[in-house]
Amino acid sequence: MMGVTRRLPVTMVRGAGARLWDDGGREYLDFVGGWAVNVLGHAHPAMVDAITQQARTLIHTSNQVYTVPQVQLAGLLVNNSCLDRAFFCNSGAEAGEGAVKLARRYGKLRLNGAYEVITSTSSFHGRTLAMTAATGQQKFQEPYVPLPEGFVNVPYDDIDAIRKATGDRTCAVMLEPVQGEGGVNVPGDGYLKDVRSWCDQRGIVLILDEVQTGMGRTGTLFAYQQFGVEPDIMTLAKGLGGGMPIGAILAKEKFSVFAPGEHGTTFGGNPLACAAAHAVLKYVLDNGIVEHCSRIGKYLKDRLEGLKSKHDIIVDVRGRGLLLAMGFSADVAEQVVKRCLDEGLLLNMVKPNAVRFMPPLIITEGDVDEAMGIVDKVLSQLEIQA
Ligand SMILES: Cc1ncc(COP(=O)(O)O)c(C=O)c1O
Repeated sequence: MMGVTRRLPVTMVRGAGARLWDDGGREYLDFVGGWAVNVLGHAHPAMVDAITQQARTLIHTSNQVYTVPQVQLAGLLVNNSCLDRAFFCNSGAEAGEGAVKLARRYGKLRLNGAYEVITSTSSFHGRTLAMTAATGQQKFQEPYVPLPEGFVNVPYDDIDAIRKATGDRTCAVMLEPVQGEGGVNVPGDGYLKDVRSWCDQRGIVLILDEVQTGMGRTGTLFAYQQFGVEPDIMTLAKGLGGGMPIGAILAKEKFSVFAPGEHGTTFGGNPLACAAAHAVLKYVLDNGIVEHCSRIGKYLKDRLEGLKSKHDIIVDVRGRGLLLAMGFSADVAEQVVKRCLDEGLLLNMVKPNAVRFMPPLIITEGDVDEAMGIVDKVLSQLEIQA
């Protein structure tokens, strides 16, 4: 295998709920959730049943025909969001690519050929070449220059920067409502509303990348709902399939301008992935999972704040719902992640000086207490050694 990811020295073989087991039978509490994917945890019966039944019925067809799971999933998504049309793909990067193509198509048809997309620094939109250009982080871009043209990266949470960067060539602004990979950054009050008004004033498209924040993760089904704005185009992936690979572009009718043949996919929206995603979304909606996430997210944040008042090395606790980060005054995140693993807790280093918490949305207060006990112990040992 190519060494593209710094993996932890552990091989996982089984999961159930918020727990994972390695090949030696050791149990771990999973606060990474497959990088914000396993919204219902591991081996959830609703998902397992849907996948099993669909696998026995119909796994794949071409998109030359309709299938029931795809239509059902599209229906559930548009009925529970402000968007009207869905296109399914296989990943977050692919959803971002498609969203930019859609905005460019809109630019060609309605904005005199405008094609440029304004994105923000410290963002993350995926690993394809165009999404690398959209991702405003030097470390991801530098190894691959020259990158595709048509992207302008401006500082996040700075409406004036967006206003200044907007010109005749601009067709869209693309943002994460809360930045995930960039460090879990929540914008200031009013930023997204200001961006929305600016896009309306200029007649340009607002794309919200909810690949990480969607599916209840931040305490509302979609993060845009807590910022008082509606996107014109939204991307989803990660939690959408709860662990089955699937992505989606959702668009308002006015912006749904692809004509037949202008975009497409072989695997995107296949019945197996759509049946899984439909089962996940239906379970989330029918069982108060979003409300649970909001409640348990506050509980986790309070517990993290509690640790902050005890450990001087913690400088801040940030995020919404169950997308939270703890920032340190030194680059100790890698060490914290390794030591937590030794204690049976899986965590993510989001920056050298910050760890991220993005567990399954179904975790309990008991899970949080157990995880916080481990983090407390690890930080105490670090401080003794420092
Ligand atoms: C906000 C956001 N957009 C896009 C992506 C890319 O998704 P994928 O890895 O499925 O291509 C990610 C992945 O972390 C993400 O966090």
